[in-house]
Amino acid sequence: MSAEFDRLSAAVREIAEEMKARPDRGSVADYIPELAHVDPGRFGLCAVDAEGRVAAGGDADAPFSIQSISKVFTLTLALGMAGDRLWRRVGREPSGSAFNSIVQLEHERGVPRNPFINAGAIAVTDLILSGHQPREALGEILRFVRFLADDETIRIDEAVAASEQRTGFRNAALANYMRSFGVVTNPIEFTLGVYFHHCAIAMSCRQLAMAGRFLAHGGRHPATGHAVVSPQRARRINALMLTCGHYDGSGEFAFRVGLPGKSGVGGGVLAIVPGRASLAVWSPGLDPSGNSHLGREALEMLSRRMGWSIF
Ligand code: DON
Repeated sequence: MSAEFDRLSAAVREIAEEMKARPDRGSVADYIPELAHVDPGRFGLCAVDAEGRVAAGGDADAPFSIQSISKVFTLTLALGMAGDRLWRRVGREPSGSAFNSIVQLEHERGVPRNPFINAGAIAVTDLILSGHQPREALGEILRFVRFLADDETIRIDEAVAASEQRTGFRNAALANYMRSFGVVTNPIEFTLGVYFHHCAIAMSCRQLAMAGRFLAHGGRHPATGHAVVSPQRARRINALMLTCGHYDGSGEFAFRVGLPGKSGVGGGVLAIVPGRASLAVWSPGLDPSGNSHLGREALEMLSRRMGWSIF
């Protein structure tokens, strides 16, 4: 056991204990009705270091809805399939707008600002879908996530997917609007079906931190040595997570935590410490930008204690 890992384990345990007791927890997302049932008292934290050692605290093994964190995996997969052609359909700039905003699409020819806002992620999903049946595309995404996490037990929560399918009117508007510009090319119901289902993947903090390892280690899957993406691509995905991973809260996250991170409305955050560790946190209560309130605070405490900012 190294001294750094001992410090990490103690920090993860102590932060999880402190966060479990905090009264200010934010509000659980309720625009996807199934997510409104989640207990805001849950809290999990997990870190996997460069040697593969795992530090876990609180509810680190409880599965939750990863929602927009899945966009990191679909972006990675789409880049592998389409390479830099992907950037014809989606930009690389922070939007400064809410995750589900439609306003910029009208002036920007239906090309979303980045792959992490809903419009951008729907365009990425549409690219993965091209030439496949929705079931095949979804199978491909799920297999990829299981491979990254080294865990065959990862599942899609069908109740969450169905709940969003019934109520995702804004996403339907975004998809239709982009289809009118030719940025989305498949039947809308196919593209949205795959999108809602990949957002509904359920993972624990441990599984998520494991799945993020390739981004901390130059694009390599540490267990197999297999190159998931090139080192340059891993750096670029991290850059997008830093600048766009928390929507209009991205500046605040970079300011406070100083690490690339991707949030989801299920209350999860995946954060990357390049060369050192992959981190995952879960606290279902959100701040007004739709990012985990205590999740960010916990990562801020952990990065400060470990001296882990990229700056
Ligand atoms: O499309 C949606 O609204 C959700 N499936 C995902 C949004 C999300 O996670 C935003 N993140 N903070």
